[in-house]
Amino acid sequence: MQVVQIHKFGAAEVLEVTDLPAPQPGPGQVRVRHSAIGLNFIDTYHRSGLYQVELPFTPGMEAAGVVDALGEGVSQARLGDRVVYIERSLGAYAAANIVGEDRLIPLPDGIDQQLAAGLTLKGMTAHYLVTSTYPVKQGDWVLVQAASGATGSIIVQWLAHLGARIIGTVGSAEKAKAAAANGVDHVINYQTQDFVEQVRRITDQRGVDVVFDGVGKTTFTGSMACLKTRGTLVSFGNASGAPGPVEPLDLLRSGSIYLTRPSLDHYTATREEFLWRAKELFALVSSGVLRVKIANIYPLADAAQAHKDLEARKIRGLSVLVPDQV
Ligand SMILES: NC(=O)c1ccc[n+]([C@@H]2O[C@H](COP(=O)([O-])OP(=O)(O)OC[C@H]3O[C@@H](n4cnc5c(N)ncnc54)[C@H](OP(=O)(O)O)[C@@H]3O)[C@@H](O)[C@H]2O)c1
Repeated sequence: MQVVQIHKFGAAEVLEVTDLPAPQPGPGQVRVRHSAIGLNFIDTYHRSGLYQVELPFTPGMEAAGVVDALGEGVSQARLGDRVVYIERSLGAYAAANIVGEDRLIPLPDGIDQQLAAGLTLKGMTAHYLVTSTYPVKQGDWVLVQAASGATGSIIVQWLAHLGARIIGTVGSAEKAKAAAANGVDHVINYQTQDFVEQVRRITDQRGVDVVFDGVGKTTFTGSMACLKTRGTLVSFGNASGAPGPVEPLDLLRSGSIYLTRPSLDHYTATREEFLWRAKELFALVSSGVLRVKIANIYPLADAAQAHKDLEARKIRGLSVLVPDQV
C-alpha cells in the first residue's frame, strides 16, 4: 500500500512516499482502508521533531474510510463500517492504518468520509475549547488568533452560535473576508495592525474575557495583554513556534489572569467523552450551524507540498490528503 515515512526530523522534504505491505490488526484493533486523511498542523510538529516521536514513523492522526480487517476480540466495529478516527500512535498518512477500536467514530449518514477526515480532529478541538476549557457564554468578548485557519474558522462559527462578541486576527486581506463571513464581528489583520491596540480600542480598554491562541510564539505575549482582569488565555497551539517560558508573576502583572495549555487528548479522556464530542460536532454540521467543506485536496504523494503550503500560511479552511486507490 502507499505510505509516507519519516526517517529523520526536518523540513517538509523528509516526507518520503513508498510502498509497503498492508499491516494486519492485532487484538482490539481494526484496519481502516482510507478514503481521505486529515491534514493537521500537529503533523508538522511530529515531522520537525518539536513533538518527539520514535523514528522511523508514518505521520498523521486522522483519517476516514472503511473497516476492512478485524483483530481478535473486536466488539465495537464490523467489516464495512464507515468510520473516522483520531489515533495517538499516528500512521494515518497511508492507504490504510491499524487503529484501536476505541479510537473509531462511526460516521452518521450525511457526513461523507472526505469531510470527516478533514473536520473531525479540528471540530472536536473547537468543541472542547469553547464548551469545556472556557465555557463561552452569550455576550462574552472573545479573541481568536488565526481566525480563518482550519481550526479557527470552526471555533469562530461555534462562538457565533453561542452568541459571543468575536474579535479575530488574520494574516491577509483575503483571509479577513473569510473570517467576516464566518461571523467574526471585528477582524484585525495582525500583519498590518497592532492587534493589542485594536482589541483595547474595540473593547473600550476593558479587554476580552478569553483568548483562543493557536499561533503561539508570535502572538502569546500580545494575547496576555488583550485580556480583561481575571481573563483566560487558552494557548492551544504553536503554528509560529512554541511560546517562551512564563513566570507566575507575569500572570499577576497581566491582571490575575488564568493560563491553560490544553490538548484534545486530555479532553477526550474516556470513550464516552470522545464519542460525545464527535456526536455534538456532527449534529451541528448536519443542522447547518457549522458550515464546513473541504477547501483543499492533495494527493497523498504530494504530502510534502501540503506541509509547505500549511507552514507558508497559504491554506485557508479544511484540507485532506487522498491516497492512490488500488
Ligand atoms: N491543543 C489541541 O488540542 C489542538 C488540536 C488541534 C489543533 N491545534 C492547534 O491549532 C492550531 C491551528 O491548527 P490548524 O491545523 O487548524 O492550522 P491552521 O490554523 O489552518 O494554520 C495555522 C495558521 O496559523 C497562522 N500563523 C500565524 N503565524 C504563523 C506562522 N509563523 N507559521 C504558520 N502559520 C502561522 C496562519 O494564519 P494567518 O496567515 O491568518 O496568520 C495559518 O494559516 C495549531 O497551532 C495546532 O497545533 C491544537
